[in-house]
Amino acid sequence: MTDLANKPVQQLTEKEATKELARLAAEIGGHDRLYYQDDAPTITDAAYDLLRRRNNDIEARFPELIRHDSPSRKVGAKPVERFEKVRHALPMLSLDNAFEDSDVEDFVARIRRFLGSKEGDEIALVAEPKIDGLAVSLRYEDGVFVLGATRGDGAEGENVTANIRTIADIPQRLHTRKPPPVFEVRGEVYMSHADFAAMNRRQEEKGEKIFANPRNAAAGSLRQLDANMTAARPLRFFAYALGEVSEAPAKTHWETLQALKKWGLPVNPLAKPCGSVADMLQFYRDIQHQRAGLGYDIDGIVYKVDRYDLQARLGFVSRSPRWAIAHKFAAEQAESVVERIAVYVGRTGVLTPVAHIKPVTVGGVVVQNVSLHNEEEVARKDVREGDTVVVQRAGDVIPQLVRVVLERRPKGTHAYKIPEICPVCGSTAVRAINPKTGEPEVARRCTNTLSCPAQAVERLYHFASRDAFDIEGLGEKTAQEFFDLGWLREPADIFRLTEHADELKAREGWGDQSTAKLLNAIEVRRKTTPLDRFILALGIPQVGETTARLLARNFHNADAFLRSMYSATAEEELDAIEGIGDVMARAIKVFFDETHNRDAIVRLLKQITVVDVAAPRAVNSPVAGKVVVFTGTLERMTRAEAKARAESLGAKVAGSVSKKTDLVVAGPGAGSKLTDAQKLGVTVISEDDWLKKIGEA
Ligand code: IVH
Repeated sequence: MTDLANKPVQQLTEKEATKELARLAAEIGGHDRLYYQDDAPTITDAAYDLLRRRNNDIEARFPELIRHDSPSRKVGAKPVERFEKVRHALPMLSLDNAFEDSDVEDFVARIRRFLGSKEGDEIALVAEPKIDGLAVSLRYEDGVFVLGATRGDGAEGENVTANIRTIADIPQRLHTRKPPPVFEVRGEVYMSHADFAAMNRRQEEKGEKIFANPRNAAAGSLRQLDANMTAARPLRFFAYALGEVSEAPAKTHWETLQALKKWGLPVNPLAKPCGSVADMLQFYRDIQHQRAGLGYDIDGIVYKVDRYDLQARLGFVSRSPRWAIAHKFAAEQAESVVERIAVYVGRTGVLTPVAHIKPVTVGGVVVQNVSLHNEEEVARKDVREGDTVVVQRAGDVIPQLVRVVLERRPKGTHAYKIPEICPVCGSTAVRAINPKTGEPEVARRCTNTLSCPAQAVERLYHFASRDAFDIEGLGEKTAQEFFDLGWLREPADIFRLTEHADELKAREGWGDQSTAKLLNAIEVRRKTTPLDRFILALGIPQVGETTARLLARNFHNADAFLRSMYSATAEEELDAIEGIGDVMARAIKVFFDETHNRDAIVRLLKQITVVDVAAPRAVNSPVAGKVVVFTGTLERMTRAEAKARAESLGAKVAGSVSKKTDLVVAGPGAGSKLTDAQKLGVTVISEDDWLKKIGEA
């Protein structure tokens, strides 16, 4: 089959062509799904284009073999079933591709022939960058944005209006006094290189999905079901065509672009009118040179016939217009050899494998480091030290490792295994289980959250934050400043900052007053921080405020808590606490098993005294351990207040009456709970009696 796939189209027999068309339909269909629905393509755009081109070439030779499900009849995959569908007023079409200069010459010659233009007649065209994002259609009615849709399969897309509204580039209202009643504009939503890199860094630190390139990131972001998620992603837009309009703003594409700009819609500043094939090819080369520095991905140049009347005469062939073509750039790829795979530790302790390759120029830029993101990626691509690999910058600033050239793998290589030890501090590094999914996170993290130098600033800042030690004046910037000075390495150091008081006062931006204020805030917390805040401050993975409070209430004091955590039965003891599951128990235990953490805690406790947290079962309360039910209207306090007060005295508050109930507190209007109590012979008292009983009357 592989042989058949490589056989030149001109040599195929009819039988072979049938087979090939079937294979290509299936293969292209599969790639379309991966690209359009999952935003996770597995082949390069260039490889995909080759498949499509082969399909078209075979169909051109054997038109009678064209399949009803041929990729040439479809634009993309069906939209995913989760957004409302929108039928486009005018179909959103695709473009034919040109790869060689001669394809561009043929394109212009075809147009001339079709229009019957004479030698010497100039056909005006516009050349503009082909933005590598995703196409959307924006509908304005009386100048107001009312509907945003993705391309989908060209006929029907997804209604992403709410998400489009979050894109700052797109005006909610057209900037014109006399907007046409109906005005649809089409263009590309994309993400800049800088925004893409920053977003992936954030995703990586959160242990969440890394996007392969800005296009996938833009598509994934635009198709978030929660528009708030889209709002948090930095999307941009360029307008490049009209859809259904009650009235076009001009008679040509070029003038329309100028009108769009005036109306507040961003249009690409590089677009340029061209009068000849020579102009077009010159533009192509100019932009190709600028490509790496543009700050966003483009994958070619689009040439469009300028005059709308000529566009109308030229019309369409199946999925694309005769009046436009996309002149694609060759993918910028190169081969190199992996010299070493190293691991870097980020601010939140995530270990990231990076391939150091023999320096190679890809699209005019020297590449020597390629991020492999995480161990699953490494395993999926099976990258090994010594491998020859294909790297690419798909117009990106960020180089990617496309694949390993297996034929060139030297003998004796080993599958790469990420260290299970943090390369910075030597502590255990684990992949935590996500309690929601029960699956391990993709990210492996260093468990030495307290003193790993790679994580220090993030952790110190968290330690001092409002919900933890609440040290005012020790924010992220200050934590970084003190870290750089070598004053802060771990939490215990915070309480030794007094030693640097004189140096601090002398520093720029610090004076007597602000120094005194900070040191004072630290002094106050040395002896006033309760156990729950202490636990939260440690930065134990998965332990947030609620769990910290739960642990504090359960263990009451730091001694008892730590003794239990260091004991062999820690996990069982944690598991027995209502509200703590086995996944969390495991994560907590892993944290305390790390000696670096234990040592850091010892050093910290030399500096501070942790305040005990009251036991839920208060010792002398007459209702401690009793099961109480409140029913009817309470007149002296709210139900929530009554419950909280009872619990603070060690009572258990239940929602219904059973044999286990000790006491029912009934106010006016009590119903079935009161009758149940009477039936079961449970003591019933009034609200006043209850207050007397707990000594608050
Ligand atoms: S014009 C009827 N102009 O390329 C033609 N398309 O393969 C409408 N694209 O779906 C498209 N930049 O997603 C046009 N300057 C540009 C473009 C552009 C990117 C995309 C668009 C379209 C695809 C066609």
